[in-house]
Amino acid sequence: MADKRRIAWITGAGKGIGRALAQRLVADGWIVAASARTKADLENLAASCPEGTVFSFPLDVTDALATGRAVDAIEAKLGLPDLAVLNAGTHMPMPVEAFSAKTLRALMEVNLMGTAHCLEALLPRFIARNAGHVAVVGSLAGYRGLPTAAAYGATKAGVINMCEALKPELARHGVRLSLINPGFVETPLTDRNDFEMPFLISAEKAADYIARGLASSAFETAFPRRFAFIMKLLRVLPDRLFFAVTRRMVRS
Ligand SMILES: NC(=O)c1ccc[n+]([C@@H]2O[C@H](COP(=O)([O-])OP(=O)(O)OC[C@H]3O[C@@H](n4cnc5c(N)ncnc54)[C@H](OP(=O)(O)O)[C@@H]3O)[C@@H](O)[C@H]2O)c1
Repeated sequence: MADKRRIAWITGAGKGIGRALAQRLVADGWIVAASARTKADLENLAASCPEGTVFSFPLDVTDALATGRAVDAIEAKLGLPDLAVLNAGTHMPMPVEAFSAKTLRALMEVNLMGTAHCLEALLPRFIARNAGHVAVVGSLAGYRGLPTAAAYGATKAGVINMCEALKPELARHGVRLSLINPGFVETPLTDRNDFEMPFLISAEKAADYIARGLASSAFETAFPRRFAFIMKLLRVLPDRLFFAVTRRMVRS
C-alpha cells in the first residue's frame, strides 16, 4: 500500500526552531525533507528520529539555482511536499555605531532573498497542483523598528509584507500561506544575545506553537501570546509613545 504520510519540507532544519519543528512533525506522523547548509546537523536530526522519517537535502537558500534543484530532488524522492516551512534565517545585531550596508545585505540574502528563492521554486508547482501549504517564518521584530535590529527587523518586515501580499493571490490558486512570528526562542541564534530576553521560550515550545498554528486556519501564528500582544500594541502606538518606549531600550 502506498505511504500516505504527508510530506513537509523544512529549511533551517539543522538547528533551533527548525530542528525542533522537524522532530515535532515526525512525532505527528509526517515525513520531513530537511534542509540547511551543515550536513552533519541534518544527519544528526535524522538519527534522532525513527528511520525513514527524515531525509536530508543540504542547501544554501541564498543560491537560487541550488534551491530549485533541491525542490526537484525532494519531488523526485518523496513527491511534492504538502507543506513547506521556510524557516532558514539568521540574525546579527547592528547597533547604529556599526551601521553597515554589508550586514544588511547579508541578512537580506538569507532572510528575505532565501525565502524568495524557496517561494520561486515552490509556488509554480503548488499553483499547478492547486494545493499546498507554505509557512514562512518572520519575527515579532518585523512589526516595528527596534534598536540594534535595523538590519534584522528590515528583513523580517519585508518577509511579513511579502506574505500579506501573496496570501489572497495564492488563496485563489488553492494554495495556503501562513506566517509564523516568534518572539524570543532559545536557540544557537539567540545564544549570541548578551541581554536578558523577555518571555524566552524553548525551541520545543516554539515548535508546539507552530504545529498547532499550522493545524489551525489562522494566517498568523505569533507567540508567546503575552509577548505577541505587547508587540502588537507597540505596532499601533502613535510615534511619540512608541519612541518613548524604544528610547529606553537604547543602551549607553
Ligand atoms: N530564535 C529566536 O528567538 C527567533 C525569533 C524570531 C524569529 N526567529 C526566526 O526563526 C528562524 C529560525 O531561527 P533559529 O533561532 O532556530 O536559528 P538557528 O538556531 O540559528 O538555526 C537556523 C537554521 O537555519 C539554517 N540556515 C542559516 N542560513 C542558511 C542558509 N543560507 N541556507 C540554508 N539554511 C540556513 C542553519 O543551518 P546552517 O547554518 O547549517 O545552514 C540552521 O539550521 C529564523 O528565520 C529566525 O529569524 C527566531
